[in-house]
Amino acid sequence: MYVVTGATGNTGSEVVKSLLAKGQKVRAVGRSLERLQPYVAEGAEAFVADLSDAAALTQAFKGIQAVYLMLPPNVAAPDVRGHQSLVTTALATAVRQAAVKYAVVLSSIGADKEEKTGPVVGLYELEQTLNSVPGLNVLYLRAGYFMENTMAQAGIISAMGKTAGPLRADLKLPMIATRDIGAAAAEALIKLDFKDHQTRELLGQRDLTMNEVTAIIAKAISRPDLQYAQLPDAHLRPAFLQMGLSADMTDLLLEMAGSLNSGYMKALEERSARNTTPTSYETFVVEEFVPTFKGKSQAA
Ligand SMILES: NC(=O)c1ccc[n+]([C@@H]2O[C@H](COP(=O)([O-])OP(=O)(O)OC[C@H]3O[C@@H](n4cnc5c(N)ncnc54)[C@H](OP(=O)(O)O)[C@@H]3O)[C@@H](O)[C@H]2O)c1
Repeated sequence: MYVVTGATGNTGSEVVKSLLAKGQKVRAVGRSLERLQPYVAEGAEAFVADLSDAAALTQAFKGIQAVYLMLPPNVAAPDVRGHQSLVTTALATAVRQAAVKYAVVLSSIGADKEEKTGPVVGLYELEQTLNSVPGLNVLYLRAGYFMENTMAQAGIISAMGKTAGPLRADLKLPMIATRDIGAAAAEALIKLDFKDHQTRELLGQRDLTMNEVTAIIAKAISRPDLQYAQLPDAHLRPAFLQMGLSADMTDLLLEMAGSLNSGYMKALEERSARNTTPTSYETFVVEEFVPTFKGKSQAA
């Protein structure tokens, strides 16, 4: 039996599907039975629990082969780091109490740094905390920048006629589709060929700049003049707040963007076959971005 946290999310859903496709038993953890239902229909066992509930998670983790762990984002939390710490403590407590032997954990580039990486400091803390659990073999998948982050550009294009954000236009970023993270995590869970504490970066199909991202979107939506604008923090802060992010999350995201822009937060591994994953941004745009963009354009 495998346990998958965040089972209804971007990466967790892929982990569940991949494991089920390989004939494995899966316990899918989420907060709502209703949202877990599609995975139950595919053969998973539903386990309803909040990831801050160590006692419930201990029950979920007892006697299992391995677990997929991720720290759920809570963008509206007034104290984002506090929420991350709460979940981290509960996950580590449950892993220890249930004597879990193997965990594959979603982390991020930048999780090597103790500070100044915004929400990724929470992943540094998660790694450090799990490293202190005796007898746990753990693989940290340090993923690059999610292609899914660029979905917000669908609304921005509709509203502003351009793509925009805090990142430098010419900053090369490893961009990854979350489906590739899920597939890599499922493969690691099946193989269980890691020992003690290991990290592996997942850097997507290639590095891309926001100018390149914009050019790919421009071609796919037939807007050849589409341009990217890097906006100052003072301009972005009210926009993030309006989107429902807490003031704390807004500050953390702007801190992270600054650290990416300066090169302080970056991938540490050379690109290789091992850390390169298949889905190109062109494929992501055709399959995910364009349908959403068309939906928004029609609704407008
Ligand atoms: N964005 C990036 O560029 C990037 C890059 C590297 C790493 N990361 C990391 O990736 C992680 C997010 O992964 P993801 O995109 O797969 O997650 P996601 O799609 O946001 O899904 C998280 C899932 O967790 C569940 N959840 C939320 N709060 C919960 C709680 N309190 N208790 C139990 N379940 C809860 C939700 O399901 P229910 O609502 O059904 O419970 C949700 O579907 C974060 O840790 C982030 O730092 C992000």
